Amino acid sequence: MRTFTAALVALLSIPLTSSVAVTDIQGPAWLSPLVGQTVNNVTGIVTGKSKSNGFFISGTPSKDRRVSHGLTVFTTSASILSQVNVGDLISLSGKVSEFRSSTSPDNLFATELQSPSNIVVLSSNNTVEPLILGKDRSPPTQALSGLDRGRDGWLSVPNNRSQVDVVNANLRPDRFGMDFWSSLEGQLVTVRKPVALEFENNFGEFWVHGDWPVTGKNKRGGLTITFGPNGIPDANPETVIIGSPLDGTKNPHVTMGMTFSDITGIVFQQFGFFYILPTTAPTVLSIPDPTVPPTTLRPTTKNACELTIGDYNVENFTPTSSSKATVANHIASFLASPDIMFLQEIQDNSGSKDDGTVIANVTLSNLSAAITLVDNSTSYEFVDLPGVNNQDGGQPGGNIRSAYLFRSSKVSLLPGSPVGGALDATLPIRGPDGKVSLSFNPGRIDPTNSAWNSSRKPLVVAWETTNGHRFFTINVHLTAKLDSSSTQGNSRPPVNAGVDQRTSQVETIAKFVKSLLKLDPLANVIIAGDHNEYIQTRSVFKAFDNLMFEIDEVSNVPVTERYTYVFDQNTEQLDHIWVSAAIAARGTKVEHIHVNNWAPTLAQRTSDHDPSVARVHVC
Ligand SMILES: *[C@@H]1O[C@H](CO)[C@@H](O)[C@H](O)[C@H]1NC(C)=O
Ligand SMILES: *[C@@H]1O[C@H](CO)[C@@H](O)[C@H](O)[C@H]1NC(C)=O
Ligand SMILES: *[C@@H]1O[C@H](CO)[C@@H](O)[C@H](O)[C@H]1NC(C)=O
Ligand SMILES: *[C@@H]1O[C@H](CO)[C@@H](O)[C@H](O)[C@H]1NC(C)=O
Ligand SMILES: *[C@@H]1O[C@H](CO)[C@@H](O)[C@H](O)[C@H]1NC(C)=O
Ligand SMILES: *[C@@H]1O[C@H](CO)[C@@H](O)[C@H](O)[C@H]1NC(C)=O
Ligand SMILES: *[C@@H]1O[C@H](CO)[C@@H](O)[C@H](O)[C@H]1NC(C)=O
Repeated sequence: MRTFTAALVALLSIPLTSSVAVTDIQGPAWLSPLVGQTVNNVTGIVTGKSKSNGFFISGTPSKDRRVSHGLTVFTTSASILSQVNVGDLISLSGKVSEFRSSTSPDNLFATELQSPSNIVVLSSNNTVEPLILGKDRSPPTQALSGLDRGRDGWLSVPNNRSQVDVVNANLRPDRFGMDFWSSLEGQLVTVRKPVALEFENNFGEFWVHGDWPVTGKNKRGGLTITFGPNGIPDANPETVIIGSPLDGTKNPHVTMGMTFSDITGIVFQQFGFFYILPTTAPTVLSIPDPTVPPTTLRPTTKNACELTIGDYNVENFTPTSSSKATVANHIASFLASPDIMFLQEIQDNSGSKDDGTVIANVTLSNLSAAITLVDNSTSYEFVDLPGVNNQDGGQPGGNIRSAYLFRSSKVSLLPGSPVGGALDATLPIRGPDGKVSLSFNPGRIDPTNSAWNSSRKPLVVAWETTNGHRFFTINVHLTAKLDSSSTQGNSRPPVNAGVDQRTSQVETIAKFVKSLLKLDPLANVIIAGDHNEYIQTRSVFKAFDNLMFEIDEVSNVPVTERYTYVFDQNTEQLDHIWVSAAIAARGTKVEHIHVNNWAPTLAQRTSDHDPSVARVHVC
């Protein structure tokens, strides 16, 4: 076995006329300065070999940290692949290419040597020492790209103001995560003490951080989206995906917080993300405790003013959902059957069958019955408001909606107003008694406003406690992020699909709340539901500033524990509960119950969202 230095000596002893170094091909910027050119006598040691998509070489390192000395050599030719082995020092010719792993313009280009030829094995059994991440070099921990300009950093609007490949800036690996990973493109690296940040994806790939400085670390082991020290949202760029092992072994099933043996592999860029392609699958070293503690916020019969509020997106729930017993158990056993449950994604009685059915009373009564099976002391009543068939988004035919379950022993709908129709806008009004009520109860907020086009309309209810105090709730499910672009993609800031519509939706809700608080500044208002947006996207929630107060903030929940969802590298909060000033002033509590995102395996997760429970006082 020769060392890398010995190999370099061997390399220097060969006459190299018009040879091109790997570092010349990589250059200090995003795109190769030699793109399109055929290069000869490129020399390097083979560091990895895929089953059918080529191999990787390591050339002489540069002192310039922007410049990678690793390179992908792409070939599907079995005969070419059979000519090289890991440890071979080779020289070869090929065409420098910038390859996009799908036609999506959102994917970055990867620098490759294509159509390899003239392969000469100069020596074998050389070793290349991997770069030890966290020791030799560590990724930056806050920003992804210098192009993510704006007050909200990577979450700033408008999106996609510039593209990485068009600007083609020189890399700044000390400042920006994408630049960091790109500066190591094709190189052999080791991740010590890897920790999984999420379940694996459909291809068995999973996000990790290793033994290096990280920010946003929650108690479970994931990395939560937070604000950085400069007040700009932190994108957790210190993370990378572990791809399919090069030797054909299979990665284990993973869950957030699981730890593994050290991973050595090649830094690679594909499908809009930076990967490490491990030489072999890691082994699992530790598994987080699967026990999910139930909420400590239990309903009370002693104080009519004290309410517990649950919030849960139950993901396309139908009368025949296989998740019914589990969801019922979550609500009864883990959320302690809150006084009022805010539910989202309740489908109509016929589920996703597109048969014109819109009412969901069977879905809701079935769920209520299933809860009573678990907790015979609870017999929930329900309220929802059917929309117009197929006008509220979601799965076609499913007519998902927001709905409430409630304990009639604790709260009831304020009487005296007609029930709203699908297209009726309910408005705050002052009743003959001088108190505020709603023109329709339950009712929808401005349902014909284009902000609610193809989206779930907020369900407003005016309630009364058993001692005669009233309060208002708004159950929301804002438009989804579907078709957003990759956080590590070409478009900067990344495309946050639906962001303009979500902003308008928050504005219409804020307008409603303002008109209510105008009639009674001390009104008790609670908004809860799936907002499909992080609090760090401040532009979306601007209309709530000084109007509604997020309960996590009011309750002083540690910022890293504010999460209900896990996506790619981030734990994040999409589900929010907001309270008006009167409620905030009385003090609140909230707990996020991780029944889904702490599941031992992806298959055991019931919904993609975790539910939350809050305690509020409405009088
Ligand atoms: C490449 O190297 C070979 C020896 O391996 C040498 O014969 C040839 O002249 C070199 N070609 C160029 C273009 O430098
Ligand atoms: C490389 O090493 C292996 C054992 O580690 C040995 O069998 C083989 O002969 C060596 N090959 C060369 C070309 O030195
Ligand atoms: C970003 O903008 C560019 C240039 O207009 C466009 O080609 C690209 O499709 C956009 N990306 C996304 C994800 O919308
Ligand atoms: C659902 O509503 C329909 C129509 O109002 C009614 O006939 C039916 O009995 C209800 N079913 C349940 C379970 O509430
Ligand atoms: C749902 O409720 C209906 C009416 O209450 C009942 O007939 C039916 O058996 C229930 N379905 C399931 C799957 O529990
Ligand atoms: C609820 O279940 C408990 C124990 O299973 C039983 O003792 C009690 O009588 C039940 N209560 C009702 C109202 O059915
Ligand atoms: C509503 O959404 C549909 C499909 O998403 C679109 O075709 C239509 O133009 C939108 N209408 C308005 C008023 O935004």
